[in-house]
Amino acid sequence: MYDTDHNLVNAHGAGVMYHNGVYYLFGEIKKGKTWSVSGQSWEDYRVPAGGISCYSSKDLKHWKYEGVALSPVKGQPDNDLDTGRVIERPKVIYNSKTKQFVMWMHIDKKDYSYSQSGVAVSDNPIGPYHYISSVKPNGQMSRDMTLFKDDDGKAYLIYSSEQNNTMQVCLLSDDYLHPTKTYSRILVNRRREAPAMFKNEGKYYLITSDCSGWSPNAATYAVADNILGPYKENGNPCVGPGANTTFQSQSTYIIKVRGKNNYLFMADRWNKTDLEKSDYLWLPLTVNNGKVEIKSVAAAN
Ligand code: GAL
Repeated sequence: MYDTDHNLVNAHGAGVMYHNGVYYLFGEIKKGKTWSVSGQSWEDYRVPAGGISCYSSKDLKHWKYEGVALSPVKGQPDNDLDTGRVIERPKVIYNSKTKQFVMWMHIDKKDYSYSQSGVAVSDNPIGPYHYISSVKPNGQMSRDMTLFKDDDGKAYLIYSSEQNNTMQVCLLSDDYLHPTKTYSRILVNRRREAPAMFKNEGKYYLITSDCSGWSPNAATYAVADNILGPYKENGNPCVGPGANTTFQSQSTYIIKVRGKNNYLFMADRWNKTDLEKSDYLWLPLTVNNGKVEIKSVAAAN
C-alpha cells in the first residue's frame, strides 16, 4: 500500500477517524531491524518503537502522508515513548465538548510486563499529539486495545486484560482522558486480543483474534445489545479459503463506509522476523440479519 508520494504506508495496528469529510489513518511506525527479546516463553520479536504516523484521505484509496503524529523519544528507557518500549495500536477520536482529538494506545515494556494504556491529545487531527501519561484502568492490565465512540458521544476503551485471559470494556470520562470506574469483563477466559468494534442497527459487534503473537489465527466475533455486555460469541466471520488464519492477518479496526450500509475490515499481515515489512489487508465486511461476513482476498479483488 503506497501513499500519494509513492512511499510505502507505515501505519500498523492502525485505526481510522472520520472527521469533517476526511478519513485520518493512524498507525505504528515500524522501522529498523527486528530483533528477538531473549528469555521470553513466547516469540517476542520487536522493532524500535517509531511513534505514530498519520495519513489522510477523502476516498479511503489515496492516502496523503501527514507526518509523525506522535514522536518517540530516544535514550530515556523510563519514558513511555522511548524507542525501546512498545507503542502499539493507536486509535483516535474527536471530543466535541473539549474540541480535542484524543489518542489512546497500548504502552508496554519490551517484555509486555507494563500493560498500560497511554493517552495523548491534539487540537489538530494530524497532530502533533501531546502525550499525557499511561494508566492501568481501574488497576487492570491493558494490552491490545481499541477505542469506540458511541452515537451518544460516550467513549469506551476495550482492551485485553488479566494476562490476556479476559477482555474489559471501560467507559471513559467525558473529556475522554481518563478511565471511569464503570467497566465490565467480557469474553471471560476466552484469551482474545486485537479487538475491533463496530455498531450496526443498535448492536455492538466485536471482532477479536486468538493469542498467538505475530502469527495469524482465526478471528471470531461477538455481539451485544449493550456495549458493556454481555457478549454472545458467534464464531468466525471470515468465509472462504484462508478463513482459519483471517487470510493470514490480524484484526485492527473496522470503518463504517460513509453513505453505504457496509464496512471495511482492516487487518495487519505481520512479518514477524522483519516487522518493517509487515503488510495490510483491508476487506469488505457485511452484516446480514446479524451475521457478519468477511470474504476472502480473491473474492474481494
Ligand atoms: C500480538 C498483538 C500485537 C503485538 C504482538 C507482539 O498478539 O496483537 O499487537 O503486541 O502480539 O508479539
